[in-house]
Amino acid sequence: MLKIGVLASGRGSNLQSIIDSIEAGELQAEIKVVISDKEGAKALDRAAKYGIANKYINPKAYESKENFEQAMIDVLKKYGVELVVMAGFMRILSPYFVRYYRNRVMNIHPSLLPSFTGLHAQKQALDYGVKLAGCTVHFADEGMDTGPIILQAAVPVKDDDTEETLAKRILVEEHRIYPEAIRLFSEGRVEVKDGKVKIKNRE
Ligand code: GRF
Repeated sequence: MLKIGVLASGRGSNLQSIIDSIEAGELQAEIKVVISDKEGAKALDRAAKYGIANKYINPKAYESKENFEQAMIDVLKKYGVELVVMAGFMRILSPYFVRYYRNRVMNIHPSLLPSFTGLHAQKQALDYGVKLAGCTVHFADEGMDTGPIILQAAVPVKDDDTEETLAKRILVEEHRIYPEAIRLFSEGRVEVKDGKVKIKNRE
């Protein structure tokens, strides 16, 4: 069974969708540990509720970003993690971490990448006036919200949308495609070639 480690900084609704998918028997995987860079993050409480190991690692307690990331790697290794899932983890991983887990770190971003990287993706979409928004699951690489795209889902943007209403509509899709991307990975169906993902045996 695929061993997952989740990195999360906040409320952890994507973590919850992965837990729910495992509980429902739709995803054959085990969350071995949840790591947060924020003390008291709701994601840690969610993990605790399900008896999942959870750990706050204080970035400020380390001299450098690499040392902080090494502390995360040590924990992930201890739990035998095979896939690292970033679920609202508000830090950019260094090339060191990314190379260590090349094509084994997933991220979810609330836009149709490569549009609107970085913070406030939903606001960026509204400000631009796009008619379709959405979300993207991708492998993390050395950039910010870049790397091979695994799955995307689109939602309409309505004329009276606010950042909140659009974020909510996108989140429904996030909660659907993140467990799905992990399921495809767990089935060995996510192939990366020349920086692009191909899904094997797609229905
Ligand atoms: C989501 O919108 C995700 O796409 C972005 O950060 C948010 C995290 O939400 N990377 P949650 O903590 O999973 O509820």
